Amino acid sequence: MPDALVSIAQHYHSRTKYDPATIRAQARSLAFDQQPVPFKTYQLGHDIDLKPYLEMTAEASQLPDAVEWMRLSHLLINAYGLTAKFPTVTGQVFYLRAAPSAGGLYPAEVYLISRGTRLLPAGLYNYQARTHSLWRYWDDHRWPGLQEACFWHPTLEATQIALVVTGVFYRSAWRYQDRAYRRICLDVGHLMGNLELASALADYRPHLIGSFADQALADLLYLNPEEEGVMAVLPLADLLAVDQNLPHHQSTFPTQAHTDFPAVPDGQLLTYFHRATAIDANANAPKWSNRSVPALAETLDDKYNFPFCLKVSTRTAPLDWGDRLDAVETTILKRRSTRKYSGGTIPLEQLLQLLDFTYQPHHYRDQGLDGDPDYHDLSLLQTFVAVSGVDGLDDGCYYYAPRSEELRQVRFKNFRQDLHYLCLGQELGRDAAAVVFHTADLKTAVATHGDRVYRYLHMDAGHLGQRLNLAAIRLGLGVSGIGGFFDDQVNQVLGIPEDEAVVYITTLGQPG
Ligand SMILES: Cc1cc2nc3c(=O)[nH]c(=O)nc-3n(C[C@H](O)[C@H](O)[C@H](O)COP(=O)(O)O)c2cc1C
Repeated sequence: MPDALVSIAQHYHSRTKYDPATIRAQARSLAFDQQPVPFKTYQLGHDIDLKPYLEMTAEASQLPDAVEWMRLSHLLINAYGLTAKFPTVTGQVFYLRAAPSAGGLYPAEVYLISRGTRLLPAGLYNYQARTHSLWRYWDDHRWPGLQEACFWHPTLEATQIALVVTGVFYRSAWRYQDRAYRRICLDVGHLMGNLELASALADYRPHLIGSFADQALADLLYLNPEEEGVMAVLPLADLLAVDQNLPHHQSTFPTQAHTDFPAVPDGQLLTYFHRATAIDANANAPKWSNRSVPALAETLDDKYNFPFCLKVSTRTAPLDWGDRLDAVETTILKRRSTRKYSGGTIPLEQLLQLLDFTYQPHHYRDQGLDGDPDYHDLSLLQTFVAVSGVDGLDDGCYYYAPRSEELRQVRFKNFRQDLHYLCLGQELGRDAAAVVFHTADLKTAVATHGDRVYRYLHMDAGHLGQRLNLAAIRLGLGVSGIGGFFDDQVNQVLGIPEDEAVVYITTLGQPG
């Protein structure tokens, strides 16, 4: 029976931990010919092809509204489009996308709601990655319904289009069972990282809304709530329209924590938890307030300081994203998760640039990137880095202090063998030069935001993970996320404070 003092988010987290004592019993063999198809199909509606707008050829430039279509076409391919393919043993072609996905299962779907623009008549659209097109499946005015479901978030007053990112649970649960919810949220976060950066290229700004009436939004989009849930709403401000250069607003409001919940059987915990963290359409939403716009790092307090520890400044020259941000798109489109590291070292300077790009976005304003992108609440996430092969930096585990911009050593040791074990025997952990851990104090996070914070923490960690991914690729390094790890053992071995639940791991190193 669940412990009555524990909220459902804490219960879900404990129930889905990997533990050396039980992991073998949890392992199942997978029938890869039964892997869920990661694409949606519709019976009714029509297709709007975005492929002609990928390159501004002489022919494309003659098409009506060519520049406008190009912006949208590039935004969507950079966010979640197909970027590689390879044949599988079953004879089918397997597609990889611009955003990484745990196990390549791609549970996320991207929808677009239009208020009615010159390009997109009012209605509902689904992004069809397979054909790089938008499928218009409903041609009704849904904007007022969207506003109501988002509790009249101010950014929806001026914007004309909004993206909605969902998760199709069974695509990921097929492999990861109840723990899949963590990975679905992380995947969505990666996609949001792409969206943030690709928007800057296309003169859009996504404004994040994390608190919305789940059922109302699912109904509005005609989703099957047993299979698919809305994870994030992102009104897209068109920065070329004067009235859409909007102030930044808070993206969430506090909701309840539930300590009174029934015993939920294995296999049903994921959907139960998603429903338990939903917001009711009748909820009393507070008035959305403006978010002041300090540089991100200035809002983040440095949580840990260790007396007499080694401290290393992380201040560095920013990573260069090329003329007019050209390198952002090329980096997104060529990004792949590294499958093997050589075990070689990386220079300290590169680790510093990775941290700088990920946590100090205001250093990149001059290059044209968003200096203050939206997250749900980054103050809840902490960063630890296990260093095994960085030239000029002692091996060990460090806390990254974003405000002071320094690494503070927690433990002094080479953790290669431990990391191999902690990452469930994955060589990526052992052979990486540095391994980044995002953690959160779940109890405190739930106390301030309610159980729904569990979604926010994982999406924000995925978003940071995508910035790490792209910075690594830009530097010619290898990178891969790791969603499978022995939860409690990570804290014990690396000396990460016990209250800090590990949310996500990103490995970095020399590709092998
Ligand atoms: C949340 C998340 C967790 C992941 N976990 C692992 C992992 O534990 N081991 C691994 O080898 N790759 C992991 N990956 C990488 C995926 O396998 C990879 O993204 C997927 O195969 C698609 O390939 P691509 O990233 O090259 O596009 C993870 C990726 C994400 C986004």
